[in-house]
Formats: sequence, C-alpha cells, structure tokens
Amino acid sequence: MLDPAGPIGIFDSGLGGLSVLRAVQSLLPGEDIVYVADSGNAPYGERDDDFIADRSNAIGEWLLREGAKALVVACNTATAQAVHLLREWAPVPVVGVEPGLKPASTRSVSGVAGVLATAATLRSEKFRRLLAEHQSRCRFICQPGHGLVEAIERGETDSPELRALLERYLAPMLAEGADTLVLGCTHYPFIDTAIQRATGDRLALIDTSAAIAQQLARLLKERNLLTPSEHPIQTRLCSTGDGRQLQAVAHRLLNLKTTVEQLSIAS
Ligand code: SIN
Repeated sequence: MLDPAGPIGIFDSGLGGLSVLRAVQSLLPGEDIVYVADSGNAPYGERDDDFIADRSNAIGEWLLREGAKALVVACNTATAQAVHLLREWAPVPVVGVEPGLKPASTRSVSGVAGVLATAATLRSEKFRRLLAEHQSRCRFICQPGHGLVEAIERGETDSPELRALLERYLAPMLAEGADTLVLGCTHYPFIDTAIQRATGDRLALIDTSAAIAQQLARLLKERNLLTPSEHPIQTRLCSTGDGRQLQAVAHRLLNLKTTVEQLSIAS
C-alpha cells in the first residue's frame, strides 16, 4: 500500500533534473521531494546501455526504500535506456522524460527542427521509435551534444568554450532551415541563454518539463496519491558525487537552501 504522504522521488545523472524538479514544485507545491543526482557517475550520455540501466535500477530501489510514492526519471538518457525496466518492477507510478518531437513538429513553421540530445539518447530504440512516429510531419536534424553536460555540471552556462561548442552543433541546423530546437536533455534548459546567443535567437526552444509535471500530477491523482496533508514541505537533495554545483544551482534557481546529502548507492 503506497503512502500518499510519501515523497516524490526524482533522479538524474546530475543537476539537469532540477529543471524538472522546478516544474513539479510549481505544479504540486504541497509535495515532498527527494532528488538524487548521480554526479559521481555523470555524464550518462557517454556511458554504455547496461551501465545506465544498472544505475537507474539502483537509484530507483534506493528512492523506494526512502518511501517514494512515485519515480520521475528526470534524465532523457536514463529514460531512453531504462524507464521500461523500472516500470517492470517498481510498484509505483514511473514517469520518464522524452524529447519533445511532437510539440516541435507542430510548432515549426519551416518544417525543419533540430534535436540536441546525448549520444546514448539518440542511439536508443525508444528515440528511434519516436522519430519514426513524427518525421512525416517535420524533418529532424539530430545532433549529439558531446561536452555540454560536462560543462553544465562544472557550472559553465555561458562560457566562450560552451558558446563555441553550441555554434558548432547548431550552425548546420540553421543552415538547413531549422526554426525550432528540441532540448533533448534535462541539463540543456540551463544553457538556454547561451543557445539563444549562439543562434541569434533564431530557434524556438522546446523543453518538456512542464508536460512531465502534468503527467505526474495526473498519475498521482488517478492513483489517489496526491498528498492529503498540509505540512511543512521537505525537499531533500542528494548526490553521489560532488554536490557543490547542485547546491549552488538549487539555491539560485529554486531558492532551496537545503544542504546536499552525500550518498553512496552501489549498483
Ligand atoms: C547525461 O548525463 O549525459 C545527460 C542527461 C540527460 O540525458 O538528460
């Protein structure tokens, strides 16, 4: 029997999932949250599929032991490689994130959209199916964002090096007529300003965190798992690595002053 007063468990390879946490908090302000950043193993995007699946299962198990009543896989790479595995065994609703190809296909006027995501997301079966579903309405130009997650985890959100990488990845999309860019990694909303600067504001950015929060709210409601009580809200931030950037970003973005808990989660 799941406890509706239990927390929502959210995890990511690092701090990117805070963009999803922000959306969940704004839609469900009364809910407790436990957030795990697997910073000791980030980035996932350059890891092999089994490693990502093992980490996702281990973190999911840890969150359930902490009483989580739902799991949010706030990482596109972990969703692509492991959300189906979590759904097989976890006795709670499991919500994943997905690159917004559908909203991009309706939003794009030119009919060409870029997709920036990790190499592991782009090579996944799940992403290939999504692409097949939407590519009759829009042409998608897919680009792995090598190096971007590492920069964001270091706290770089608008450095000259980051801008140079973005120009290298995005200029070919603009040359092909793209007017829309799917942010296919939960870290990328943190570099939206750098993306806009690198492209002269010529791309409409598609971020799906609000839609993820809505899907979570719907599932909690369906299962009578919305929190029943008015109590002081607790948001716990946990990290398997250096939690300093997580703490700094959570403070700046979410005004969260909680101290990051150091964890060791074996897979
Ligand atoms: C990564 O850890 O490489 C990226 C996380 C994501 O895909 O959202």
